[in-house]
Amino acid sequence: MSHYEFKCTECSKSHIADPRTLRCESCSGTLSVTYTNWKRQVSSLVGGGTLDMPIPLGSLSEYLSLGEGNTPVVSMPKISSMFETEIYGKLEFMNPTGSFKDRGTAMMISALKSKGVSEIVEDSSGNAGASVSAYATRAGMKAHIFAPLSAPQTKLNQIKVYGSILHAVDGSRDETTEAAEKFVKHKSIVYASHNLSPFFIEGTKTFGYEIFNDFDREIPGNIVVPVGNGSLYLGIWKALEELKERRLIKTLPKLHCIQAENINPIASNNTWNKSKIKSTVAGGIAVGSPPRKSEVQSVLHQSGGTANSVTEASIVEWQIKLAKHEGLFCEPTSAAAFAGLENLINSKHINKNERVLIPITGSGLKDVFPE
Ligand SMILES: Cc1ncc(COP(=O)(O)O)c(C=O)c1O
Ligand SMILES: [Zn+2]
Repeated sequence: MSHYEFKCTECSKSHIADPRTLRCESCSGTLSVTYTNWKRQVSSLVGGGTLDMPIPLGSLSEYLSLGEGNTPVVSMPKISSMFETEIYGKLEFMNPTGSFKDRGTAMMISALKSKGVSEIVEDSSGNAGASVSAYATRAGMKAHIFAPLSAPQTKLNQIKVYGSILHAVDGSRDETTEAAEKFVKHKSIVYASHNLSPFFIEGTKTFGYEIFNDFDREIPGNIVVPVGNGSLYLGIWKALEELKERRLIKTLPKLHCIQAENINPIASNNTWNKSKIKSTVAGGIAVGSPPRKSEVQSVLHQSGGTANSVTEASIVEWQIKLAKHEGLFCEPTSAAAFAGLENLINSKHINKNERVLIPITGSGLKDVFPE
């Protein structure tokens, strides 16, 4: 008997953890992994084996790693003194394919491989596609990656270099998902879908476990995350809840959600509809219909975090500021979190002298280059 199952995030119906089951059979809600016996199935992946985390694998030997995770945390002295706040960055661009996605992908591909899957379809703004392409190769799987033709050429090249089949879609990020769904419809290939896969969030959870170690149990009170589909945002929260359940931490930080003003289905609350979509330099968060929107909203509510929207000009400005002030070159999607931080401090959602952690989610080398 398996030590976990999939549970609907809307109606709580339990499902057998099958790679082809991406939505609830009763209400079409999104699914998440629930451990029925996790205390006996913990495995050490985090902080060089210093902390146990429940994972959806029979044993650690099933985990396929390219060395993801355990990324450095750096202080950001200039930006901290600018805001009179203590700001830290966790360098997610140092993951093997240059973004935090490797955390989720490693777990997702490992779980699919352990269930005998040999061919998959994935859709992405670029980073997850590159990540899935690399890990699928490592697992000996064939992968079809759908990405917008308008994605940065570097990301499209990266998808191809690992050997996957790139399907470049002449359309938006949402149309890319539709093309992938259409492609799998009448085929026997598994639709991996990192946005819907419950396994992916089990991998991004490692971020939450690591910061417990990085900050010697004193996790900063604010974490500011760029959110498209919310895989990192939700993974961090799940990890922190597990740590709280085990009484390893007492209080949970505020998890703030940052989106681009041009595509902000979560940050604009109930005023959003897809006709409002405009293009953004923050391609990683250009998601008009995030399937896990209500999960993100629920975490915002539970954590006391704020959803904030940022302008195109402020994203580019912060990409340059991070490079010039702190020597950190990130992609525009990651810079959006800092533009959001500025807004949250100005609106007093984050107060002076509070501690803030920001994942610097992707490398500047993979995206558009600021003038
Ligand atoms: C660099 C970067 N940051 C943040 C995100 C947002 O991740 P999610 O869509 O899981 O919220 C993405 C997604 O592609 C990304 O590529
Ligand atoms: Zn349901």
